[in-house]
Amino acid sequence: MKKALKIVGIGTGLIVLLLALAALYNQVADTPSYAVNAPDLQVQLNSSRIARGAKIISATCSYCHQGKNGQLDGRLLVDDPAFAIIYGPNITQDTAAGIGTYTDGELVHLLRTGIKKNGKLVMPMMAKMPHMADEDVYSIIAYLRSSSPKVQASAKEQPAPKLGFVGKALSRLVFRPLSLPEAPIPFPDTNDRVAYGKYLATDLMECANCHSASFETYNVVEPQKSPGYFAGGNTVAIAGKGSLLSPNITMHPEKGIGKWDEATFIKAVKYRQHPNGTELNPIMPNYGAYSESEIAAVWAYLQTIPVSDNDVLLLAEQEK
Ligand code: HEC
Ligand code: HEC
Repeated sequence: MKKALKIVGIGTGLIVLLLALAALYNQVADTPSYAVNAPDLQVQLNSSRIARGAKIISATCSYCHQGKNGQLDGRLLVDDPAFAIIYGPNITQDTAAGIGTYTDGELVHLLRTGIKKNGKLVMPMMAKMPHMADEDVYSIIAYLRSSSPKVQASAKEQPAPKLGFVGKALSRLVFRPLSLPEAPIPFPDTNDRVAYGKYLATDLMECANCHSASFETYNVVEPQKSPGYFAGGNTVAIAGKGSLLSPNITMHPEKGIGKWDEATFIKAVKYRQHPNGTELNPIMPNYGAYSESEIAAVWAYLQTIPVSDNDVLLLAEQEK
């Protein structure tokens, strides 16, 4: 009996020691590195690409990369020491503080897979675009290379992300890069309103990402399989902007926006005017650069997805 206890005791001691070593390793070792198999390509700049890139960036990328001066030279995004302190980096043309040394191929690789030029994985909150049309990826790059004042070299250095214990463990065990698409991704048919709306809402404008159940459970590879697809309740928190639960924007008449019409939807998404008379909170990105017809396409797509009775107001009450 005594012997058995002793063995159990030694066993437990060993486990505790191993756990302590694993924790120490987690704390001091570097996060994993990945190969950068950047495609060999050069994006041709033209005015239509630059204009399209400006539009995409004004809503999706500026949200996390734009500083107070209006340039894309970065800002504080997450200030949660237990998990991480994360800055949206400077993505201007500066070769030291910005992304001036990225090749076009390395940018494509980053936007598709989430792997930076240095082989490290970007923080999971950085937008990933596995399904974005090649043409839109090139438009983003064309704009980043353009003469727009927003992307001219700024020497402002943003600190590298600092991961807390949990953040480090997650980046070792959970976060994984995506694969490069195996075939070219064509631009969707803009005359097919539902198909174009789906493309905008899930693959380009990131509506699905914020308006589904949570960032942790969002399925970036197969967005429609995400729990609570467009049913809201996701906590969206940005340093300096605060934190809000995303609303249910399926067509449920009470819990969603089923009583709205297309014009009400455009007024809210493009012009930020909620039907109750208030202005939308800045946590919801500014889609003012998209045309009414593009927002209407998103509306057309939302008519086709499953309706959810997820009660976000009730969730918000419970969280208080
Ligand atoms: C929700 C916030 C968020 C959004 C939206 C976002 N990013 Fe990022 N981005 C980040 C963060 C955070 C990092 C850096 C993380 C790191 O260093 O691991 C990053 C990294 C990058 C980098 C790499 C910078 C470097 O120094 O290696 C580029 C380039 C970039 N983003 C471009 C974009 C573009 C283009 C878009 C829009 C299509 C975009 N980002 C949208 C948060 C965001
Ligand atoms: C970064 C996260 C985020 C993204 C991306 C996002 N939203 Fe939102 N959205 C929110 C939040 C948070 C609110 C709540 C704002 C408020 O209460 O003022 C909101 C509010 C809304 C509302 C008002 C709904 C209501 O019942 O009050 C609509 C409609 C909407 N978003 C549609 C969209 C569409 C369409 C897209 C893509 C084009 C989109 N959102 C992208 C976070 C996001």
